[in-house]
Amino acid sequence: MAQIFTTQADARLRLALIVGAALVLLIGAAVFAYVRSGNAWAIGRPAAQPIPFSHAVHAGDLGLDCRFCHAGVERRTDAGMPSAETCLGCHERVWNVTAQFAPLRAAIARRAAVEWSSVSRLPDHARFDHAAHSQAGVTCESCHGKVQEMPRTARAETLSMGFCLDCHRNPAAGTQPAAAPAVRPHGLQSLRYEHYGVEVSPLTRCSTCHR
Ligand code: HEC
Ligand code: HEC
Ligand code: HEC
Ligand code: HEC
Ligand code: HEC
Repeated sequence: MAQIFTTQADARLRLALIVGAALVLLIGAAVFAYVRSGNAWAIGRPAAQPIPFSHAVHAGDLGLDCRFCHAGVERRTDAGMPSAETCLGCHERVWNVTAQFAPLRAAIARRAAVEWSSVSRLPDHARFDHAAHSQAGVTCESCHGKVQEMPRTARAETLSMGFCLDCHRNPAAGTQPAAAPAVRPHGLQSLRYEHYGVEVSPLTRCSTCHR
């Protein structure tokens, strides 16, 4: 059969195919590495805050309990944020003279809360509940890292769906042994269990975390 391409063109075509395939693999690997890295989830990057608040000073050095400022953690969905009055309980004397406390004054004048930026916020379609986790003995640290050592608050874990599921598939491993939860099937789940003997953990069901 007659040769359609010259040997040179043939070699160029082969080279182009090999280089093309290598590029596709390389770009794929780079995207994968980025998505799996902390960088994509802003791990370790503090957000701009109205006041340069330090957990290392207040929860670390001064040893204040987390619940002193985040009073909802054991009882509510939201951990909650301290009111300006909570800060003023100690900063009454300094707040008037230091510019960095101006947002506290403004918040009190507006009868509103200080507008802190969040480093943990989930997308609207996902649901989270602090009380359920506190009561099951999951420590703040397992999701927020060593906050008491942070001069500026930053995300310590991805808080991605994979992160949540890693623990929800086997919660006993992530909680304090004494408080290991009894995973109780309820509602439709318990029906399915009783009738068909099929057990699907409510903790890995989509509707547990998605509305
Ligand atoms: C004196 C009050 C105070 C204490 C005590 C305190 N916090 Fe905070 N916390 C704040 C303030 C103010 C912010 C918002 C500014 C910031 O993020 O640094 C905040 C923010 C946070 C955030 C980020 C929330 C978000 O939306 O991303 C986490 C997580 C957190 N605190 C956990 C803790 C933990 C864990 C402890 C105990 C070890 C603790 N805090 C103790 C006042 C406090
Ligand atoms: C229990 C008392 C207490 C409470 C409540 C408190 N602080 Fe403080 N704060 C202190 C003390 C004491 C220092 C000084 C620590 C030092 O200089 O080592 C301080 C230091 C600071 C500083 C300077 C930090 C630095 O890095 O130099 C800021 C800003 C601040 N606090 C903001 C706040 C805010 C905002 C709140 C409320 C969310 C708050 N504080 C609640 C006691 C308190
Ligand atoms: C199982 C993981 C997990 C644990 C344990 C956990 N948190 Fe959170 N926290 C989150 C997530 C996720 C968010 C973001 C919630 C959202 O966007 O709805 C959050 C948000 C917050 C916020 C932001 C404000 C708010 O009102 O919710 C604070 C403050 C906070 N957590 C403090 C704490 C403290 C203090 C503890 C320990 C007593 C704790 N968290 C335990 C995952 C966790
Ligand atoms: C270290 C372990 C751990 C991690 C990480 C974790 N959870 Fe959980 N979660 C639990 C346990 C244990 C329970 C069961 C509490 C119970 O049985 O009442 C639970 C329960 C829940 C519930 C059910 C609350 C209710 O209404 O009863 C929701 C919603 C939830 N988790 C969401 C999340 C989300 C979203 C994340 C990730 C941001 C997450 N969890 C990360 C351990 C974890
Ligand atoms: C333990 C809690 C939890 C369970 C169970 C869960 N998800 Fe998620 N899911 C999340 C969280 C948290 C996010 C948001 C992650 C982010 O982007 O910050 C998420 C994100 C998503 C997204 C958006 C795309 C993405 O990857 O960010 C989809 C789609 C999704 N989930 C589908 C599902 C389906 C389908 C199920 C059931 C098979 C399920 N989820 C079960 C916690 C959960």
